[in-house]
Amino acid sequence: MRELTPDTITDAVLDQMATTSDPRLKEIMAAAVKHLHAFARDVNLTPGEWIKGIEFMTLVGKMCTPARQEFILLSDTLGLSALVNGLHDKTALEEGTHTSLLGPFYREASPKLAPGSQIAKHVKPGTECVLYGRVTDINGKPLVNATVSVWQTSADGLYDIQENPSATDYRGVFSTDEDGLYVVRTVKPRGYSIPMDGPDGGMVKAQRRHGMRPAHIHFLVGSPGYRELVTALYLRDDPHLADDVVFGSSDDLAVDIAPHDPNCPIPATPSIRFDLRLSREGEADKTSGRVGSDPSAILKEAAPAAN
Ligand code: BEZ
Ligand code: FE
Repeated sequence: MRELTPDTITDAVLDQMATTSDPRLKEIMAAAVKHLHAFARDVNLTPGEWIKGIEFMTLVGKMCTPARQEFILLSDTLGLSALVNGLHDKTALEEGTHTSLLGPFYREASPKLAPGSQIAKHVKPGTECVLYGRVTDINGKPLVNATVSVWQTSADGLYDIQENPSATDYRGVFSTDEDGLYVVRTVKPRGYSIPMDGPDGGMVKAQRRHGMRPAHIHFLVGSPGYRELVTALYLRDDPHLADDVVFGSSDDLAVDIAPHDPNCPIPATPSIRFDLRLSREGEADKTSGRVGSDPSAILKEAAPAAN
């Protein structure tokens, strides 16, 4: 019998797992074990510290509900979600608009609205803004009848479901016209803090981070034969554009609100114009899953199959 030491334990685990039949699972688990062991060796992890880590992850699990996915938030605040999105972007056939986080507030059940509809049920004076642009392929060919789903916070910085889990507000699904044009009437979103009342918030506070996301508007864009685009536009004048707590913002997704854009389809209203370019769908798109994670999808997958 081999004597296991901190120097030999990693190979012993890898040897035992070598019988894994699914090759991708084998690859992922072998890398996870190597990196986890290297991490423990790097910091000379003590038993007390590891129990603290286990306690933390237990609290993260306990905080998860149908309306809140604390593990996704952990992945977001550690930059892992943004990294996985970036790796996914690299597998596209063509370079379209870059992705950004889906975030925990996406809901499939959003109202289908006519072009130019207002997505906010109540608009405070001075906050209205138009969002418009063309959805095209990477060569500028308009994608007709593409689905453009948008969702955002109110001008007070809260999502509808944070105020009332069954509410639907500040979200809608639009279709592009024959020029690929989408037009949405909305309100200026506000930057906001991620939920700080759970273990992830505790971690963020212990790290002396502010916990803020810059003001943004989420998009999920689909057209048959094209890679689904999950992205967001960030207001350039937000003080946290460069230090988003979940690493979703980037310069190429930063926008300004134009006070008097003569091309805006809804006259005399401040507006944001942003064209969205979709890559053709490739083989990787059939198996990679949606960028970001919808908490309700996790619950659907976890539910036992009905007979
Ligand atoms: C959001 O975009 O709303 C979001 C993303 C990640 C964590 C928390 C919120
Ligand atoms: Fe968001």
